[in-house]
This record gives sequence, C-alpha cells and structure tokens, in this order.
Amino acid sequence: MIRKAVFPAAGFGTRFLPVTKASPKEMLPLVDKPLIQHGVEEARASGIRDMIIVTGRGKNAIEDHFDVSFELEAMLAKKGDRKLHSLVRSISDMGDFFYVRQNLPLGLGHAVLRTMDMVGEEPFAVILSDDVIDSKVPVLRQMYGIIEGRKIGKGVYEIVDMVEKPKPEKAPSDLAIIGRYILPPSIFPALQAIKPGAGGELQLTDAIRALLSEERVLGYEFEGVRYDAGTKLGFLMANISFALKDPEIGPLLREFLRKERIS
Ligand code: UTP
Repeated sequence: MIRKAVFPAAGFGTRFLPVTKASPKEMLPLVDKPLIQHGVEEARASGIRDMIIVTGRGKNAIEDHFDVSFELEAMLAKKGDRKLHSLVRSISDMGDFFYVRQNLPLGLGHAVLRTMDMVGEEPFAVILSDDVIDSKVPVLRQMYGIIEGRKIGKGVYEIVDMVEKPKPEKAPSDLAIIGRYILPPSIFPALQAIKPGAGGELQLTDAIRALLSEERVLGYEFEGVRYDAGTKLGFLMANISFALKDPEIGPLLREFLRKERIS
C-alpha cells in the first residue's frame, strides 16, 4: 500500500563535527553498514520499492553507495569472490533510488517538502536513518498495522498536540516522536503554509500539528529499542549493541569488554 519512502539526508550533522565536515553523517557505519543502508533495508523489508533520498552538498557518497560499482564488481568477479560480489550487488538492488537536492538545510520539514513532486498524491513513509531501531519486526511494518485499522487500542494514541524540542518541564507527556512517519499527501500544503519554528527551521512536527485540526493523527508506541545515532553517545551505544549481536565479532567483543572490566 505504501510504495515510497523519503530519506532526508541533507543536514549538516553539526553534532558530529569534525567527521561530518566532508562526509555525510548518514554514511557513518553501524558495525559495517552505513546508517542509511539500515534505513533502506527497513523500508525494503516493509515492502517499499521507491527510495527517495534528499541530499545536498558533500553527500555524493550516498548516491555512489546505492549505485552499481562496476570496477569493484569486476574486480571481485575476477577474484572469484562470490560472497562479496553478491553483497556489493545486493545494495544497488535494494530498490529504485531517486534523488532530490535540498540546496540549503532549512529544516526537516523543508527537506520533506522537496519531495512533493516525486511523492505525488499518495501516502508515503519518512525514515530518519540516524534514529537506529533494533526490533524483530521492522518499525514501518509495525506501523502498517495501524493504518490497516487492525491495531486501534494497545500502543496507539490519538494525538491531540505535539511540540518540537520542548524543555523537559514543558513537555506534555513522556512520549517522544522519533524518525519514522507515515504521512498523507496533505502534509505538503501544510508544509507550504507553516512558518519557520524551533531553531529557525521548517519543522515537520509543526506541519503535522497543523493537520490535527483537519484529520486524525495517530501515534504508535513501537516494539524495539531506539538509539539516537545522530549523537556521539547514541551512535556508540548502537554500535556496541549491534556489534555484540554480530556472529563474527560479537563473542570477541564481549571477551574484550569483560577483560577490560567494562561489562
Ligand atoms: P538532524 O537534526 O538529526 O540532522 O535531522 P542534522 O541537522 O544533520 O544534525 P545536527 O542537528 O546538525 O547535528 C534529522 C535528519 O534530517 C535531515 C538530516 O540529514 C538527518 O538525516 N535533514 C535535517 C535534512 O535533510 N535537511 C535539513 O534541513 C535538516
């Protein structure tokens, strides 16, 4: 039912400087896969085919990553390394990739607005790949349950209000919005109508908030663990957690942590 996913990836990643000065934050590795590949795999596992990536200056590595690397594939084929060859090929086969530039990072809402023509008149998903989620069932797939009307009840909230980056004492609840959305096409006129909000940026949250008076907006408490890999600490925690589960390096890492009396 949902055919398209939008991946905003045009931000400056200032919380990760200096590594993000010339390299995209979305290409930082989670063990051995870039963050954005995890997001694309989640979309694919949820049945999505069209991957729309919003990029900007200094983000060419993302396009190269999802493109066919002819030289690399030819070299691996020549060496007879079938395993690595199919691993490399599988990345460009993950979907149909479309790119749109956001010339200036004017906010997440602005990045999503840039995809209006590509998305057209259909509901679509938005994935922020620096929100890493460890879950049995991909979160987007869990969310489909709500739109199909199967899950009204446990873990589903009818949203009455939402605030972008509230001060803790002003937060209306202890539930937070994270980087997975399924949005209707009516979000685009809402994005065109809002003014810059928190941090002087066009905020997606403000546009969703504007929809509240016109349509029902649901929130879903997903099953899984979320890491904010857009921060150094969250990124390291995600890496340690995923690495410990990796069959190749997990046992050795565990031993190392034990020896160093870290765990
Ligand atoms: P973040 O706020 O986490 O990313 O936005 P950022 O702005 O790059 O990082 P900091 O805050 O400076 O450290 C979440 C996602 O939205 C994208 C980012 O690339 C990131 O993947 N984004 C953000 C855009 O595409 N455009 C924007 O104008 C802002």
